[in-house]
Amino acid sequence: MNRFAHVTGWGMAAPDRVLTNDDLAKMVDTNDEWILSRTGISERRIAEPGESTATLAVDAALRALESTDINAKDIDLIIVATSTPEYIFPSTACIVQDKIGASRAGAFDISAACTGFIYAVNMAAQAIRTGSIENALVIGAETLSRFTNWEDRDTCVLFGDGAGAFVLQSSDQPGGVLTCVMRSDGSGESLLSLPAGGSKLPASHETVDKKQHTIQMNGREVFRFATRVMASATREAVSLASWELDDVTWVIPHQANMRIIEAAARGLRMPIEKFVINLSRYGNTSTASIPIATCEALESGRIQDGDHLVLVGFGAGLTWGALTLEWVLPERKISRAARRRRAILVFLARVRSFVRRLRRKIEGLIWGTSSNDPI
Ligand code: ACO
Repeated sequence: MNRFAHVTGWGMAAPDRVLTNDDLAKMVDTNDEWILSRTGISERRIAEPGESTATLAVDAALRALESTDINAKDIDLIIVATSTPEYIFPSTACIVQDKIGASRAGAFDISAACTGFIYAVNMAAQAIRTGSIENALVIGAETLSRFTNWEDRDTCVLFGDGAGAFVLQSSDQPGGVLTCVMRSDGSGESLLSLPAGGSKLPASHETVDKKQHTIQMNGREVFRFATRVMASATREAVSLASWELDDVTWVIPHQANMRIIEAAARGLRMPIEKFVINLSRYGNTSTASIPIATCEALESGRIQDGDHLVLVGFGAGLTWGALTLEWVLPERKISRAARRRRAILVFLARVRSFVRRLRRKIEGLIWGTSSNDPI
């Protein structure tokens, strides 16, 4: 029997404290007009003392679990994607495991910067599909404000804090996480980094004085890289799923900069309306940005049963990736009418996919190009 990995629960957490562009203009030489026009960001959330990556992750995890039929003890695996972990070790995932009482779960962190949530969902889905686990909790959580140089206007206007979580469960119903591309290019390590605090530059008075425990970024180069890979990764993941770009209902991009998202939309020749965008209110929350945007789109009813989603991101490393998801709501969350609509949509999608493959096969026979695509 085929096993599929479905997202059955979701939750998010954001600190209450709001830092607006006008607030930032009192701290560094900037203004609302510059930030809004260059990034699309109006405000971001900043963790209060007492809040941290783990507390935000726990809040998001508990909300995600509340929206499912299972409880923490049913979770087999917890993955936290983060660039701002609670400690270098132990992992933030272990702290979450303890705080939510997931007594049977293995737990570890993934460090793939802003692409981390995509990597983590893919890893959890793979583990579910192979049969090695039944239920996973995947969290993207950050307190970037703790690693921001509040005197550096190039970076401090960009980032915010928050967390988002998915519960993934196994099912024999087709759909859920379908395909994923994960890419990296370590030659770009210096373009975006937090240089000190690791084994190369352990903490010292000098590293603190030089502010090497804060985010260092070559914004222009990161911008160039991001606009290139967002479209290419989306195309690849969509093609692996045997979809066309037209089949995509929603693209949920990493929320770094409105101009990057617009460039991706142009590159893909997709209407910007198909992109879920909420960065004006949260800024760039790194690994948390995609799950937070997904949660808000679900809660506002934009994402519907049967929708075809692409999650796409990029970040330090450099890393980038995209993941396709056929959104299938858990049975108990949908009405009988919606269930009928889902069955029809799934049937039509399969017919479309079959016709496309058949067409490619026939074109291959006519034009002599080889196609290994099984019909
Ligand atoms: N307010 C006012 N002026 C500013 C500010 C600011 N906050 N920041 C920079 N400027 C100035 C610069 O000093 C420069 O002035 P100059 O022309 O006199 O030298 C001018 O504005 C233009 O600067 P650019 O760097 O060319 O501005 P750009 O249009 O490239 O926008 C930005 C900068 C927003 C950082 C953009 O490059 C960007 O978004 N890059 C991608 C960053 C990103 O997404 N990082 C996260 C990756 S994900 C992860 O892993 C966390």
